[in-house]
Amino acid sequence: MPDINKHIKSLREEIDTHNYNYYVLSSPSISDFEFDKKLKELEALEIAHPELFDPNSPSQRVGSDINKNFQQVGHQYPMLSLSNTYSETEVLEFYNRTQKLLKEDFEIVSELKYDGTSISLIYEQGILKQAITRGDGSKGDDVTANVRTIKSIPLKLRGHDFPDKFEIRGEILMPWPVFESLNAEREENGEALFANPRNAASGTLKLQNPSVVAARRLDAYFYYLLGESLPEKGHLENLLKAKEWGFKISEYTKKHTSIESVFENIKFWDIERRNLPVATDGLVLKVNSLLQQKNLGFTAKSPRWAIAYKFQAQEAQTILRSVDFQVGRTGAVTPVANLEPVLLSGTIVKRASLHNADIIASLDLHLGDMVYVEKGGEIIPKIIAVNKEARIAGRQKVVFIENCPQCSSILIRKEGEAAYYCPNEDACPPQIKGKILHFVGRKAMNISAGSETIEHFFNANLISNVGDLFSIKENDIVHLEGWGERSASVFLESIETSKNTPFENVLYALGIRFVGETVAKRLAYTFHDIDKLAKANLEELVAVDEIGERIAQSLLDFFAKEKNQILIQRLKDAGLKMEIDETRRIEKTEMLKGLTFVISGTFQKHSRDEYKDLIEKNGGKNVGSISSKTNYMLAGENMGPSKLEKAQKIGAEIIDEETFLKLIDKEGL
Ligand code: IVH
Repeated sequence: MPDINKHIKSLREEIDTHNYNYYVLSSPSISDFEFDKKLKELEALEIAHPELFDPNSPSQRVGSDINKNFQQVGHQYPMLSLSNTYSETEVLEFYNRTQKLLKEDFEIVSELKYDGTSISLIYEQGILKQAITRGDGSKGDDVTANVRTIKSIPLKLRGHDFPDKFEIRGEILMPWPVFESLNAEREENGEALFANPRNAASGTLKLQNPSVVAARRLDAYFYYLLGESLPEKGHLENLLKAKEWGFKISEYTKKHTSIESVFENIKFWDIERRNLPVATDGLVLKVNSLLQQKNLGFTAKSPRWAIAYKFQAQEAQTILRSVDFQVGRTGAVTPVANLEPVLLSGTIVKRASLHNADIIASLDLHLGDMVYVEKGGEIIPKIIAVNKEARIAGRQKVVFIENCPQCSSILIRKEGEAAYYCPNEDACPPQIKGKILHFVGRKAMNISAGSETIEHFFNANLISNVGDLFSIKENDIVHLEGWGERSASVFLESIETSKNTPFENVLYALGIRFVGETVAKRLAYTFHDIDKLAKANLEELVAVDEIGERIAQSLLDFFAKEKNQILIQRLKDAGLKMEIDETRRIEKTEMLKGLTFVISGTFQKHSRDEYKDLIEKNGGKNVGSISSKTNYMLAGENMGPSKLEKAQKIGAEIIDEETFLKLIDKEGL
């Protein structure tokens, strides 16, 4: 046994080192394959030896899926902000003021100002204890479970010379490539896009499900240590220590002894920051000596020993030529400005997003206006202001349209939403074409037809909904312009092949609002076929992990419509898979028939999802909250005391995982 203990420990240390090399130093020391092998070995050993469990093992990074509301925690040291400036003159004033107050030489450290969401981590005896958001500065949300999934944040520090207790602050960031792919996925799922990586990072950190957070691949840089017994007397020297302990510290942090060198650095980064993998919006200048920092002290809002120099946003002025209103597959109408082409930080901008009717109204836009276009953290440039001085009288005001530009239906605005919608979902051309295009997409039915083909077929009156795709005959298309026998047979073959598309992709292809790829999978695995899904009520839908009321309601609305029922029948008749493959379905038993379970806490032997599956596969029902109908509460570690109390009160039997497994084992599973 001591050997196993030693082996597990050394595997953990080895994996921690590889993680550190990969995520912090960005220089992998082992292939992904070798790494996975080691991690799997560790996981297997940990399962075989639950007595050697360590919550800080690298295997515990994937994120548990307990859903709990965040707790508010007071900050021991308030989280202040920095005084900001866009002006080099004010930077000089800061430098001179510091000189005057200190009356001695001082060093300035310049750091990149990372544009994410700030976080404070508390370490005790080298172990990450708590991660708290900034909140209102004096108290924030405890987001420890989510932060633990960020691979570049050490759960356990390296080396030995860290203080027993300290706090370290930094910025949680979503790297550009992750941000772009997340938004592309959201667009495909008909979900609202994140405006910039900052919003995406803070939104992600506030998610209730750490395993979703883990999948979002956040990163973090650290720039401020607080504590009673920091090892060094200088800020930068402490950061370098923190780097040794395993934190990601920007390699671009630099010490200066003159203001000229600070200005040179500002000039350099104003351009160079565009080549960084994460968003930055300026430089932070800090007095290096901690003693000098102490002497300078704080104002009510910010330290006197630091200032943030913010880069000018990249903006340009140009003329607003016209406004288009585009209708998407969900019917949402998006206003887009057509601009006189203008060069903006290296690219020519011709179009800019106008977001919604409220933004158009608040800008008081007129055609021909000189507008300011900004390319900030966003991918699509936006109009931020109008140069009213330059306006010529008599110009036409831009008003949001009242009728759909494509089918003339009166637009509607759903309560609580900023967007206008065209309600004519069955006959409005861009909505029909958009839905069909989504249906044939690679992640959906994967039919070889692009937007041109769909346009062509639609104009030839061959298709007006996705069901029509399966009625197309060779004769209908061989004579179309640009088509021949060969292209027709390629298309028809791909229609045939698409009939083997797994049920979860078919479900996604239907384009039900808010039902993206992951949700579709989850629904398919839970309900197994379309009929059961169509019959599920709100309660049954929200009991599924990650399905909230918004998604549930959208499903109910979809299946309630007769035309959708007809469409599903038609797709079934065409031979599409409307149930999950046998191979994906493990033996079903009726052992738990009629029994309702609530799962709470975290487990050692199986994940929560696996327990849910086991309950369902054995005919039991798994629900999200305790009610008089609950028979069993499957209780893991760290479950909330209120849940336990409630379960006891209503007389549900509280069982641990061993008891549960026996419950199904005993019957000979
Ligand atoms: S120092 C008391 N350093 O900017 C000073 N902040 O406006 C603590 N930020 O809340 C902050 N990069 O979220 C510091 N290198 C850096 C930073 C940085 C980004 C953010 C941070 C802070 C805000 C202040």
